[in-house]
Amino acid sequence: MQFFVDTAVIADIRELNDYGLLDGVTTNPSLIAKSGRDFKDVIAEICALVEGPVSAEVAALDAPGMIAEGTHLAGIAPNVVVKLPLTLEGLKACRHFSAHGIRTNVTLCFSANQALLAAKAGATYISPFVGRLDDINIDGMDLIRDIRQIYDNYGFGTQILAASIRSANHVREAALAGADVATIPPAVIKTLAQHVLTDKGLEQFSKDWAATGQSIL
Ligand code: E4P
Repeated sequence: MQFFVDTAVIADIRELNDYGLLDGVTTNPSLIAKSGRDFKDVIAEICALVEGPVSAEVAALDAPGMIAEGTHLAGIAPNVVVKLPLTLEGLKACRHFSAHGIRTNVTLCFSANQALLAAKAGATYISPFVGRLDDINIDGMDLIRDIRQIYDNYGFGTQILAASIRSANHVREAALAGADVATIPPAVIKTLAQHVLTDKGLEQFSKDWAATGQSIL
């Protein structure tokens, strides 16, 4: 499973990229607003840092507007993926971009039928929002499983990008459910490496090693 980081904070992206843990980046208008920076500058900076796909979301609500904005965003760098909302207009724009060889991420997906439509429109990625479904007491992971089954039934190439991931457990479950990618907040990515027994074991090994008085170099 690929790991994307879900943030517009350059310092976090740089840190995770340096660990070799990043396959790509997703942003959304809320994350850009939180950064307080110019959208296109942020996208250009991220694209220069990270080799993998970087999702940049359109703001227009009609297909012609989305096509104009998405074309502009795609011109920023070759690794920009145009992020489009899962509406009929968004699907129309998705069809346009897939016909022109521009990668897309269809976002705000909350049902299997929406995911089916995105695949039929040629989306590169579909983003089912797991956490936001959990928030309204619907099991978000069931949606990932349903989409996996449907895409496999028909051989759709659209990749399932598990989004709105809130915990390490979400990452584990998304991997078990067959998501191709998870987009994860920076803090959650870091918790994936943590285990109390790792810390305890390392402490003991370090103590025992020091007692030998040896050095490796
Ligand atoms: C995905 O592309 C979205 O940016 C993101 O995962 C939304 O997460 P949230 O529901 O925690 O805001």
